Amino acid sequence: MKTPKAFFKPLAIGAPAPMMEPPVRLERMIHFVPPHVDKMRAKVPDIAKKVDVVLGNLEDAIPADKKIEARQGFIEMARDVDFGETGLWTRINCLNSPWVLDDLLEIVAGVGDKLDVVMLPKVEGPWDIHYLDQLLAQLEARNGVTKPIMIHAILETAEGVKNVEAIATASPRMHGMSLGPADLAASRGMKTTRVGGGHPDYVVLADAGADADAPRPAYQQDLWHYTVAKMVDACEAAGIKAFYGPFGDFSDAAACEAQFRNAFLMGCHGAWSLHPNQIDIAKKVFSPDVGEVAFAKKILDAMPDGTGAVMIDGKMQDDATWKQAKVIVDLARLIAV
Ligand code: GLV
Ligand code: MG
Repeated sequence: MKTPKAFFKPLAIGAPAPMMEPPVRLERMIHFVPPHVDKMRAKVPDIAKKVDVVLGNLEDAIPADKKIEARQGFIEMARDVDFGETGLWTRINCLNSPWVLDDLLEIVAGVGDKLDVVMLPKVEGPWDIHYLDQLLAQLEARNGVTKPIMIHAILETAEGVKNVEAIATASPRMHGMSLGPADLAASRGMKTTRVGGGHPDYVVLADAGADADAPRPAYQQDLWHYTVAKMVDACEAAGIKAFYGPFGDFSDAAACEAQFRNAFLMGCHGAWSLHPNQIDIAKKVFSPDVGEVAFAKKILDAMPDGTGAVMIDGKMQDDATWKQAKVIVDLARLIAV
């Protein structure tokens, strides 16, 4: 896992120059909490012990007449709960909404020192990140927040996908990016009504056999393959992290697991959990399989300096598979810590 380059120009004269080196953290699930609901907020101390990241959601799914309560609920929750090693994020409202300015002013003033990451929805291009970067710099300086707050973009418009590489490198504050399949589907004019996952009609037919009248198997395709691949390349090239976003059908654990697994295999570091039963799915999927780790360790052990070619269990290994094995073993070690 790469870490972004160190950077940062302190805004205020005499202010300490913070390092933009986020700790290499496990972020297998970003667990969404609606902070205006008292019952949900009451569960946060327990949830925080089970997840890698808790996110207070202020944007979509929070009704317009509850936006202020959600913001206040988030500040209260951030102040009162001991998150320990668990990451604390918020998803603010989008930049052209009437709420976003107060989201940032009040949250950075209230709990800026505890906040790790701001998730910014509906990012269209690097200009959105530049704006947020400068605003965060002003608010950190004004409120004496010395640990830089990182930015996580949601990739959920056609324009954003077009500009994904420029978004990934728009600021040293960039932590990573999540695919937002629901908004992206709408932005692209896709003919679906789902939050992520596949579609029974998005299939390819197998070739017809000798019996032309026999039913032909139809194989469902991953609707998100192209975007996830594009996002992972943009993120890895920029030294930041890619994530799959939400899976809306809470009743279909198998489909959620399959979507998360595709993302994991493609290079994503985690996904959103919107329901408690998605926490364990994400934990299982985004932690490497023990058999895979054991095999990866064999490769590392067989090639101590990472060069050459060896056969293991009948399979050829070389410098490139050594690097793949290292990704898996590094992740397993992070989980074991
Ligand atoms: C998430 O915000 C999405 O639109 O899928
Ligand atoms: Mg969205």
